[in-house]
Amino acid sequence: MKLTPARRISGRLQLPGDKSISHRAALIAALASGSSEIANFSTARDCASTVACLRALGVSIEQSSQKLIVAGTRKLVAPYRPLDCGNSGSTLRILTGVLAGQDLTAELVGDESLSSRPMRRVIEPLELMGAKIESTDGKAPLKVRGSANLTPITYKLPVASAQVKSAILFAGLNATGRTTVIETSPSRDHTERLFNGFGVSVKTDQDLSVSIEGPARLSGGAITIPGDVSSAAYFVAAAMLLPGSDLTIERVGLNPTRAAFLDVLTSWGAEISVTDVRTDRNEPFGTIHVRGGISRTADQSQRTLSGSMIPALIDELPLLAVVGSQIAGGIQIRDARELRLKESDRLATTAMNLRAMGAEVEEFEDGLAVPGGTKLRGAPVDSHLDHRIAMSFAVAALLAEGETQIAGAECVAISFPEFYALLDSVAVR
Ligand code: S3P
Repeated sequence: MKLTPARRISGRLQLPGDKSISHRAALIAALASGSSEIANFSTARDCASTVACLRALGVSIEQSSQKLIVAGTRKLVAPYRPLDCGNSGSTLRILTGVLAGQDLTAELVGDESLSSRPMRRVIEPLELMGAKIESTDGKAPLKVRGSANLTPITYKLPVASAQVKSAILFAGLNATGRTTVIETSPSRDHTERLFNGFGVSVKTDQDLSVSIEGPARLSGGAITIPGDVSSAAYFVAAAMLLPGSDLTIERVGLNPTRAAFLDVLTSWGAEISVTDVRTDRNEPFGTIHVRGGISRTADQSQRTLSGSMIPALIDELPLLAVVGSQIAGGIQIRDARELRLKESDRLATTAMNLRAMGAEVEEFEDGLAVPGGTKLRGAPVDSHLDHRIAMSFAVAALLAEGETQIAGAECVAISFPEFYALLDSVAVR
């Protein structure tokens, strides 16, 4: 895919439903009593993987455009074939937690990227609860033998991971007694908010522990999924960096464990405002306005993203590295070694592509340093079949001098099939 520079970003957008919330809403609806209606369900290929797996587990799901009608069931049925999770870490890890609490055996498989990602992080706690899980050296394929009567655990997460936390909470629905997950840094809390919104109380304490009492049954109902804030991030960053831009994004998710990049960009001098904030099933959403250009009063020294702020920025870090190359002082990212375990090694792929475009990036084992004020040059870059890398470098391409060619650009469909069409609709060239 060839991309040319833009002069500014202008327009008004509504985005497809949030990917993380869509996965969870579909899983909750599948297990809940009664039927559920999910509107603005994500168009991401990852969420289609979750829906296909649930159908293979006997769940009746009707889909018309972006609306799902799901008939909840207490018992999933053993699938005839391995469950194909595609590229989706959330599908594989959270569904493993769901299956841990069912009296059946199922195999979960994924594509090459997903089959190289670490799964011991879910296997260990779920086996402590009584499930039996076979893997290939801690990686997919996973064969899960579940039990509808699990043992509750108190489990301290060795890494900040919302997928692992969610897997344990879903398993906790079928454990007798209190299941507690203790986090070291707060990760996205959609599972907690939606469990509370669909009738199962989740208690969150000051010490970052999250507990549910099992056995518990969710109650079905209706939800409209807010627009995906991680998808919005690419448009917000492009609008911020192109003076004269004027962009509005409506009905977008504003959960603080996901929208932290808005505060980071504001602290870097972006003119961002948020209005019309409302909630649906405890998930906040609203309208984001961005006016292009960086305020001159912003601090000019190098900014560091590190420590407990990393989990809330995790999916936006490659994009923030691109933005960092444009702001005075540049940025440093630390404590982000988890990025090496995503759909690609995002520290390596971000550094490689930024260098190809003329930035002098330093790569650490747990982060990157990107000098500011770099004039990016259009160049051949590679998505490494990682959707967030493709979209981050599409933004870089809008800022660069000359044409940028993104190899494997079509992988954006993993989270955001409409990305290039929407970018074209707001980019003024
Ligand atoms: C996700 C959690 C994060 C994130 C991923 C989606 C989720 O992964 O990077 O894109 O939906 O729970 P980890 O749980 O591995 O941090």
